[in-house]
Amino acid sequence: MPITLTPFGNSFAAEITGINIQRGITSEQFSQIHKAFLKHKILVFRKQPLNDEAHQNFGTLFGELDGHINKSTRHKQLPSVQIFSNVKANGETTGIHPEKGTQVWHTDKSYTATPSLTTILRSPEIAKIGGDTLFANMTSAYETLPNEVKTTIQSLFAVHDWARSREKSNERPATPEELRAAPPVQHPIVRTHPETGQKALYIGNHSSHIVDMERSEGEAMLADLEAHATRPDLIYRHKWQVDDVLMWDNRCTMHCVEPYDAAKEKRSVHRVVVKGDSPY
Ligand SMILES: [Fe+2]
Repeated sequence: MPITLTPFGNSFAAEITGINIQRGITSEQFSQIHKAFLKHKILVFRKQPLNDEAHQNFGTLFGELDGHINKSTRHKQLPSVQIFSNVKANGETTGIHPEKGTQVWHTDKSYTATPSLTTILRSPEIAKIGGDTLFANMTSAYETLPNEVKTTIQSLFAVHDWARSREKSNERPATPEELRAAPPVQHPIVRTHPETGQKALYIGNHSSHIVDMERSEGEAMLADLEAHATRPDLIYRHKWQVDDVLMWDNRCTMHCVEPYDAAKEKRSVHRVVVKGDSPY
């Protein structure tokens, strides 16, 4: 079956058909997917009832996999696979959203020196109400900034800090082990994409403040940039279907998940993350 690529309206995401991920990807298919990924930033593959091994194998095609700092959500046998679920083994809901940090705008693992290139998420179980994932196009966000703002931020760096990120999203505090594994790092606010050469804003909830700037002033600047980046015309809203596979480019997008009723709704997503390069 030939591969087809269908952009969603005028958004930056696109659906790919003609691929069976469980069966495996040929090198020709991979090259088409990779090209589409760089062009659209977000790719959707519908009706892909994968197992975790196939999910992991698909991720490996894009690079080295990166386990998550939060060990409690790691798959027991396949630690590169992370499971976000509010469903207990007995089928009842926990009543608790599995990771509140996913509900605020962020780009994955920006609190590390080599943040995620892509995240690949699949959806065995979806919420009927809520649970959409929203994406912001950070290339467009940069391009639509006033020139004087571009000049101001061109050489600025932000501190990205897992511990501060937890505080801001009202999650449990970072553990001593997590603090050792993820000390604060600095990344440029304007990131040049290593494959396309395009500039993008690189901010989000893991960014806490700006280097060499008064703390509250830096926090306010980051908040203003986020407000600009998440305005409605720069957003793609993904409405999940069971067995979607969704992959996005963390180097030029931000995302967040819409809240859902964790007592009434059952929602489980499995995640694989591919390690990227240093943003500068
Ligand atoms: Fe995320």
